[in-house]
Amino acid sequence: MENVSRRKWFKSAAGLTVGFVSIPALVDQLMAAPVSEAERLHTSSILKDGIVRLGSNENPYGPSPKAREAIVASLNEGNRYAFEATTSFKKFLAQKEGVTPDHIMIGNGSSELLCVAGIGVGLEGKRVVSPFPTFRLLMDFAERMGATWDRVDVNGKLELDLEKIASAVRSDTRMIFLVNPNNPTGTLIDFNAYQNFCEEMAKKTTVYSDEAYLEFVEPSQQRSMVELIKKGSDVIVSRTFSKIYGLAGLRLGYVIAQPDRIKQMSKYQMGGGININQAVLAAAKACVDDTTFMKMTREKNATARKVLEDYLTKRNISFGKSHINLLFFPAPVDGKTILAQTEEAGYQIRVWDYAGKEWCRVSIGTQEEMQGFVTALDKIL
Ligand SMILES: Cc1ncc(COP(=O)(O)O)c(C=O)c1O
Repeated sequence: MENVSRRKWFKSAAGLTVGFVSIPALVDQLMAAPVSEAERLHTSSILKDGIVRLGSNENPYGPSPKAREAIVASLNEGNRYAFEATTSFKKFLAQKEGVTPDHIMIGNGSSELLCVAGIGVGLEGKRVVSPFPTFRLLMDFAERMGATWDRVDVNGKLELDLEKIASAVRSDTRMIFLVNPNNPTGTLIDFNAYQNFCEEMAKKTTVYSDEAYLEFVEPSQQRSMVELIKKGSDVIVSRTFSKIYGLAGLRLGYVIAQPDRIKQMSKYQMGGGININQAVLAAAKACVDDTTFMKMTREKNATARKVLEDYLTKRNISFGKSHINLLFFPAPVDGKTILAQTEEAGYQIRVWDYAGKEWCRVSIGTQEEMQGFVTALDKIL
């Protein structure tokens, strides 16, 4: 695979086997979408052997020992579709979240649910408002299905600008999409302010609160918007097992919402257990309350993040105050060069276009990986 772009390889392989004209569009849906012109132009392989993955906000310490054990045990069920296991997991989650199973929808990663929600918004032909930059999958799918995406720039501290978001809501806004803490900026807004905002906005339109990184916040400060759902608000909360739980490659996420919203979203999903595998259900159940593993991840992540924070501070490069497993900062050299040169040095990162500038988003790996990355970055600069 060396010297061949994964995207190009996938396109040609899919083209050869299927010979279907709309394959490139399909491929673009399946691959992580480029978030900058530099990424569109960058064609080297993201599968290069031994590359340190600082591009997808994964947990370098996962899966937890408890999850690993459960995965092995689950192999006995590997010949069976996960119908019952999915139903029983939904009940388990409902109990954990304090809602009914009708409030829950399970997906093959939370990405599946973001796509499904985006398709719904698009097919209903309306508008979606979100901060920018943010995790754009829902809006990408909404736009593909005919919706308009109203983007509201984050403020000077790279935080969601709630006032501006509120002003962008129109009578035909179908959904507000928010991520707190946000990807790619890593910033967190105060949970009281956030909750008041979600509660007020949900009187006008559906509010989607993506909580993919909530568990990176200290437990005493973690506050989920599920509380609003329990009070009847039109809020959708999504969570994933890909981040702090370290199960990104096994794929499991879920949303909590009013039962009517769940029914509406379910129309666009191939659900019912056929989309989920036995191994991930077993793993998730085994590690969802593993506070020791989560604490270890939070602590190691903070120590490793500090390695890069200290370096950026030393170089006078500003960055968003990150509460999660990434840092976002203005690209110190042009995006195409930094992508090529960090990859050459053995590190995969992302480059974003935002506010007329290029920005690096670097996921936090282990402490050793971050030390290596800083040394490589220093040579490039
Ligand atoms: C904010 C946010 N939501 C959702 C996802 C999707 O995660 P998954 O599909 O692995 O659950 C990501 C992945 O990076 C993310 O950053």
